[in-house]
Amino acid sequence: MKAIYDVPAPAKLNLFLHITGRRADGYHLLQSVFMLIDWYDTLHFEVRADGQITRSDIGAASADRLPAEDLTVRAAKALQHACGTPLGVHISLEKRIPTQAGMGGGSSDAASCLLALQRLWGVKLPRQNLLEIALKLGSDVPFFLSGGHAWVEGVGELVTPITLPPADFLVVKPPEGLSTPAIFSSASLKRDSETATIQGFAANNPAQIFGFGRNDLQPVAQALCPQIVQSLDWLSAQQLDGRMTGSGSAVFAQLPHSVNVHAQPSGWNVRKCKNLQAHPLESW
Ligand code: C5P
Repeated sequence: MKAIYDVPAPAKLNLFLHITGRRADGYHLLQSVFMLIDWYDTLHFEVRADGQITRSDIGAASADRLPAEDLTVRAAKALQHACGTPLGVHISLEKRIPTQAGMGGGSSDAASCLLALQRLWGVKLPRQNLLEIALKLGSDVPFFLSGGHAWVEGVGELVTPITLPPADFLVVKPPEGLSTPAIFSSASLKRDSETATIQGFAANNPAQIFGFGRNDLQPVAQALCPQIVQSLDWLSAQQLDGRMTGSGSAVFAQLPHSVNVHAQPSGWNVRKCKNLQAHPLESW
């Protein structure tokens, strides 16, 4: 019987996200704190001796199936090419993190794929080469290789690990999703936020640290997706101060008290989450 390896891929929330400029190639310079939370996809890997890289979805309705050549397949092919292994893999993806949510699910899957395949194929790229592959796959992928929460700058390639106090959050994903390029390309996006510092962020006490700054993508996303405003209003009605993560459409609020999440509108994905103290593959 062939061995199948199960590997987790956690979601992230952006505590804040400031856009400080734009590069000549159109990519945006940002500053953000990326925080890992206990909402996971699971990837199942079965090594193939024939060198082929294949993928299937587990438990996804046909409308939610990812394209065959998704980010995990592209990650596996890039690693295979870079390390020259004759081995391949079949990846089954059990998707639980909402897509088009700003929660980094696809990027996290790709990062977990790179880390898992280094182990299963018995290869190890120099860290810098792995990070270069990660950044080509997507701006959020290097963060998911960093092992924990991080202060992220540049277009996503400058990742500085930070620690955060343990806390609970309520995450709300309304039915509509949002496409990241659509948000970043908006003419009304604020692109000139002042530069913040890690020291300025870390100087906040634990009660304030989760409310630092703002998400500059939120006004554009709200204009495109009224369900974001509805989600924030729903959080307000529970005395919770919410904000959007990434390019949306999920929003979240720190949970200082217990709330009745059963009163959620139907079709919404509402979940209580804890931040992680480390990435589950931290030592890989
Ligand atoms: O890198 P990723 O595939 O996640 O980016 C998706 C899109 O978001 C890019 O094609 C780009 O339009 C936009 N983006 C950006 N600046 C960033 C990250 C993403 O403009 N720092």
